[in-house]
Amino acid sequence: MDLLIKNGTIVTEKEMFRGDIAVKDGIIVAIGNDLSDIPCKNVVDAIGKLVLPGAIDAHTHLAMPFGGTVSADDYYAGTRAAACGGTTTVFDFALQDFNEKMVDVVKRRDALAAPQAAVDYAFHIGVKDVHGELLDSMKEAVEYGVPSFKVFMVYDFGVTDGVFYKVLAKAKEIGAMISVHAENNEMVNMLVEKYISEGKTDAWHHYLSRPEFVEAEADSRAIAWAKSLDASLYIVHLANKQGVEYVTKAKEEGYHIYAETCPQYLHFTCDVYKREDGRNFVCSPPMKGQESQDALWEALKRGDIDTVATDHCPFQQAEKDWGKDDFRKIPNGCAGVENMYPYMLGKANEGVIPFTKAVEVCSSNPARIFGCTQKGSLTVGKDADIVIYDPEKDFTVTCENMHSDYDHTVWEGTKLHGYPVKTFSRGRLVYDNGEFVGEPGWGKLLKRKLSQ
Ligand code: URP
Ligand code: ZN
Ligand code: ZN
Ligand code: ZN
Repeated sequence: MDLLIKNGTIVTEKEMFRGDIAVKDGIIVAIGNDLSDIPCKNVVDAIGKLVLPGAIDAHTHLAMPFGGTVSADDYYAGTRAAACGGTTTVFDFALQDFNEKMVDVVKRRDALAAPQAAVDYAFHIGVKDVHGELLDSMKEAVEYGVPSFKVFMVYDFGVTDGVFYKVLAKAKEIGAMISVHAENNEMVNMLVEKYISEGKTDAWHHYLSRPEFVEAEADSRAIAWAKSLDASLYIVHLANKQGVEYVTKAKEEGYHIYAETCPQYLHFTCDVYKREDGRNFVCSPPMKGQESQDALWEALKRGDIDTVATDHCPFQQAEKDWGKDDFRKIPNGCAGVENMYPYMLGKANEGVIPFTKAVEVCSSNPARIFGCTQKGSLTVGKDADIVIYDPEKDFTVTCENMHSDYDHTVWEGTKLHGYPVKTFSRGRLVYDNGEFVGEPGWGKLLKRKLSQ
């Protein structure tokens, strides 16, 4: 045996129990009450600690060209930070270039990721261009093991409604999952123009140009099209109450509509945009009001929100400052990859949700939805992606104790009771009590097939 984790409380999406876990060649080979008879080189005593599956962050933007620059964490920094926050798999968005075949997008981004990644990774393909044979090229990507695509309804690279519909229909045909960034682009552009012409240029007007109804309307449109095709649809970074209601209704009707929210929407409200440093919180969709935040928590508890992921897309302070006097110039996005699991587990430790729920939304559900069959649970035969969590360790987030390349974080000063103390990626220790101990190049590209 290569690793034996003893005496911990094992947490799955369904239950918690005292037990030992044995690992060989990166795989969980035994789970039992007492495995102390098994000879092992490396025994870790987890008494008083929780033993959890590593989180799967199904939404990151590493080294992504965006907003006139490139996001601050490359594949090394982003996955190093992930490991130190108990996240053992990241799904990154590989954005298509115009005229580029889908499988080539993956290969181009994988050439960057493979030598850098410190934990395992997968890609969603961000679709921009489906002219000619490019739509059909989605099939080749699915066969290559990348069966998930994303469309943006906003930004200069967003797709038209017609393209979105074609992509949904193709996905249904070839067994792929479509994710969507849902906001109404026309409304955003109209409101941005209005506020700028009125001289209202601060971060608060970023929020007012993308308020609740702008997101909700796009959610309802996207869901309507998915329903018409009976296609699966995954709404990323859901942040508004009405959108939650549309998702709940579609699920009740039996459609395969999935929703993700992010820790920033669960923790912050739009009030952050009134702060002097409000630009640092600018992301799209923006944080919403308290009612929306409450609705997100309720939906998460009910199971209508399926996953929590980060939308990790940090920019440096100087880049955020471009938009000090003009919110249009603020690169959109915030940090989170190192904060998600500690934050959600912290909420479990406070009693807001059960630990099993934190495991379900941060690990088991993303694995299931996106076909990561070897991840997402502590089960014999799965990859030994394991986190040991100390429920009594107090931790305050600062930029200095994070492991990213960014120079500020929206999570600065957040106090957590309970924190991960060790992370294993396929049985290899990659994080140990505050220190990253992994290496670039360890992470492998996950090839996937959807079960739907
Ligand atoms: O503001 C955000 N969310 N930036 C990253 C790109 C996206 O929309 O997901
Ligand atoms: Zn988005
Ligand atoms: Zn995103
Ligand atoms: Zn305590």
